[in-house]
Amino acid sequence: MGLLEELTAETGVLPETITALTKEEMENRVREIKRVLGKKLFIPGHHYQKDEVIQFADAIGDSLQLAQISSQNQEADFIVFCGVHFMAETADILTEEHQQVILPDMRAGCSMADMADIFQTEKAWSSLQGLFGDTIIPLTYVNSTAAIKSFVGKNGGATVTSSNAHKMVEWALGEKERILFLPDQHLGRNTAADLGVAKNEMAVWDPIRNELITDGKPEDIKVILWKGHCSVHENFTEKNIEQVRSTHPEMKIIVHPECRREVVEKSDMNGSTKFIIETIENAPKGSSWAIGTEMNLVKRLIGQHPDKHIISLNPYMCPCLTMNRIDLPHLLWSLENIIDKKPQNTIKVGKDISHFAMLALDRMLARA
Ligand code: 13P
Ligand code: SF4
Repeated sequence: MGLLEELTAETGVLPETITALTKEEMENRVREIKRVLGKKLFIPGHHYQKDEVIQFADAIGDSLQLAQISSQNQEADFIVFCGVHFMAETADILTEEHQQVILPDMRAGCSMADMADIFQTEKAWSSLQGLFGDTIIPLTYVNSTAAIKSFVGKNGGATVTSSNAHKMVEWALGEKERILFLPDQHLGRNTAADLGVAKNEMAVWDPIRNELITDGKPEDIKVILWKGHCSVHENFTEKNIEQVRSTHPEMKIIVHPECRREVVEKSDMNGSTKFIIETIENAPKGSSWAIGTEMNLVKRLIGQHPDKHIISLNPYMCPCLTMNRIDLPHLLWSLENIIDKKPQNTIKVGKDISHFAMLALDRMLARA
């Protein structure tokens, strides 16, 4: 790859051959390339992707479904992943050697996954081993780097998604006395609380200060929560709930467990992306819903269910900015590169990392 091409790929700046096209021309070209590549191409799309992208997805799902679908697909040579970086890494780990996973824009990261790096994690682990000895099993939300998944796999733990967090936390508590839950404190706290773990049995590990924050006695601690969060879901507040309760008392409030504990406690229901979608699909005609999750998905649900009254729990909410990096021009650009036989933005996880990350993923997939 030439220097200009490399810079272009890294910054997401697209060539004029793409940007000069109209939306309709881009859509026609994507359709044509999909027809030409046939089963050699597979496009998984996360529910949080924009409509302009999701219309071309061969499979749409939440992070667990996309991990399962990727592991089952053995025929596509090119998997153009419409989601964020950690999902593309997971797909690469779960697919065969001959399959190339491509992320249409390298800037499509996840701010939550960035809140735990491997050096911080190793440092935390050694401090926690010093405090608690060999009593801890690590669990990581799939929203984490491959290096963290590998660390977790190496230390006997597993990955988790919002769809199976209860099952996995229950399993982990049967394996060891304590869990270290990375990197989303809210999913960890909400799940543990649902399973009956008391507030004083939970502590927070602050990776910046390198210290354990707890009100309880260290010997009582069962769940150690990494101090990370989703910058999208943290924007739903108790005030938003109070507002909806006073203006629309008939409305049911449903939120993702990446929201803060206070928000989850005050809502009517909480659950993964899949759970939210299924709940709205199965809700009676004329029912009213305030949804606390990513905006592209909420907008899609509003469009798909004109017979129900649906609003965002936070009226000023915007979509996940990094998910939104994947747009129609970037999708087309990555497909054109495949046609030109110079695929770019290939996501490759090294063998040393993928071996143990696979262990962590397998432990989850076996129980999912
Ligand atoms: P799920 O797809 O597991 O619900 O996760 C939501 C999310 O934040 C993805 O980044
Ligand atoms: Fe990451 Fe939150 Fe965006 Fe999901 S919604 S990709 S957790 S920043």
